[in-house]
Amino acid sequence: MAEFDELVKARFGTDGDTSPPAAGEEVLKTILAHRTYRKYSDEPVDEALLELLLACALSAPAKSDLMQFSVIHVSAEDKKSRLAELSNTSWIATAPVVLLFCGDTGRNRSITRARGYDYSQNTLDSFFNAAVDTALVMQNFTIAAEAVGLGCCYVSQVRLHLDEVGELFALPEGVFPVCGLTAGWPGEERDTTYRIPPEVSVHHDVYSSEGLAESMDGYDARRNRQRPTPPEKQMYREHYGEAGNYGWSENTARRLSRPDGLSPLRAFLVKQGFDLA
Ligand SMILES: Cc1cc2nc3c(=O)[nH]c(=O)nc-3n(C[C@H](O)[C@H](O)[C@H](O)COP(=O)(O)O)c2cc1C
Repeated sequence: MAEFDELVKARFGTDGDTSPPAAGEEVLKTILAHRTYRKYSDEPVDEALLELLLACALSAPAKSDLMQFSVIHVSAEDKKSRLAELSNTSWIATAPVVLLFCGDTGRNRSITRARGYDYSQNTLDSFFNAAVDTALVMQNFTIAAEAVGLGCCYVSQVRLHLDEVGELFALPEGVFPVCGLTAGWPGEERDTTYRIPPEVSVHHDVYSSEGLAESMDGYDARRNRQRPTPPEKQMYREHYGEAGNYGWSENTARRLSRPDGLSPLRAFLVKQGFDLA
């Protein structure tokens, strides 16, 4: 595998100056080399391996030890097809592994009530904690999967039609989808996608936006050189026309200028019994 400097350069598009750590090389290299895979070979993923990867996922830390997450392994063909349809994401139907990661305050609500107590933490904070716990589980899964050579893709598009997805998987009170995930042995070549430079995302002692515009100009230029966007692929071209200097910033600004089409989350959460107070 590539050396650290090469991996850091591939991650940010700028020269790295790193020294190898005393331990943990392989884990760090796996994390640095991350890329999303949306196409998989037909080779199945062994059930025992999946079980091991899920054990790694569930090893994530959890706020107050509350473990407010659930993972639904979607293996029935009809459910995969329906989820693909509802998520407008065709590769869900054929991906060897499909998981739905859910925030879950419901299990602890039941346990609390079964022991004769009132459940008194139906708050926005609880929702947030469940979402964070779940995100940590998701990312542990991905790191473990990538460590053994699998490719993964998160799919937040599973939240396009929340009511239908909730019904499809019989999600009870207190449970909400955070994200889907497809995985399998990679069936395509992918580049590393440059991240925004650490100088804009890592702050020292105090938050600072100094030099943001110049840093982002440099980032846009690097990304454009690496993976230029053809004019016909410019986002919302029908509304905003064709930009001469179309980089990540222009794409992001255009993306955020319009609603994303996902279901209104608050309404779904209220239906699932969340107070959000
Ligand atoms: C929470 C989350 C949700 C995502 N949802 C989708 C999705 O619905 N569809 C998709 O194709 N990619 C999805 N992605 C993948 C991102 O598009 C991808 O991570 C990003 O473009 C950077 O590429 P990389 O992962 O190869 O570095 C998601 C990623 C995350 C972290």
